[in-house]
Amino acid sequence: MRDITAIMSRDRAIPKHVAIIMDGNGRWAKQRNKERYEGHIAGVESVRAAVRAAVRNGVEWLTLYAFSTENWGRPTAEVDAIMELFCRTVMGEAKELASQGVRVKVMGERTRFSAEVLAMIDHIERSTAEGARLTLVLAFNYSARREIILAAQALAERVAKGDIRVDDIDEELFASELMSSGMPDPDFVIRTSGECRLSNFLLWQSSYAELYFPDVLWPDFGEEAFDKAMEVYAQRERRYGLVTEDC
Ligand code: FPP
Repeated sequence: MRDITAIMSRDRAIPKHVAIIMDGNGRWAKQRNKERYEGHIAGVESVRAAVRAAVRNGVEWLTLYAFSTENWGRPTAEVDAIMELFCRTVMGEAKELASQGVRVKVMGERTRFSAEVLAMIDHIERSTAEGARLTLVLAFNYSARREIILAAQALAERVAKGDIRVDDIDEELFASELMSSGMPDPDFVIRTSGECRLSNFLLWQSSYAELYFPDVLWPDFGEEAFDKAMEVYAQRERRYGLVTEDC
């Protein structure tokens, strides 16, 4: 007899690109009378879990919002702790990621970083460049509005130089000037911790994404929670502004 659950799961819709706003590290730490940076340390374990689960589920692109441009406004000790954690994690995980077939890309402005952070970004991108199973995009010093402004400026310059005409600017050309150029748009955007906002994350790219706001703090978002999110996605009906037979 054929196993109907196996057949269903095989045919289940898998998002090609999952993007996650990893929220709730601070609250997780506070609930345990710990310092905020300890929540970020715990959050790194959820990053590992998300990568494993994404590979296992056949997701091809996973974007994680690790540090927003606005996050520079946090206390210096916390910013330093996140930068240090980033460097330590990148140093420690590069080989493991490469062996899992994960290619890492860092998306964001390469400004304000220390030389050490810049070197780590270079190191992780180079050492995982051959990965073909999953592209892990770390949004680091990223702001969607800033990204859109930079794209608008680049296009305005090209018009001024006579390289393109104003009429040439369409969605495709605009998207080609974004930091996400070459990436597929996210199909599924998850924000943990129950907050229901996009907070300057992939605003252009998420136009048709399905959104999901599980009430789980990021350090508690393990592989099971990721799998549950995949089930939620599979039940969504994506219409892209069109109509279906049922409505
Ligand atoms: C949001 O929680 C989380 C962050 C701003 C930082 C996330 C960073 C990591 C998990 C480590 C980065 C490292 C790598 C390698 C990707 P919050 O502090 O805003 O939580 P709260 O809303 O409860 O205060």
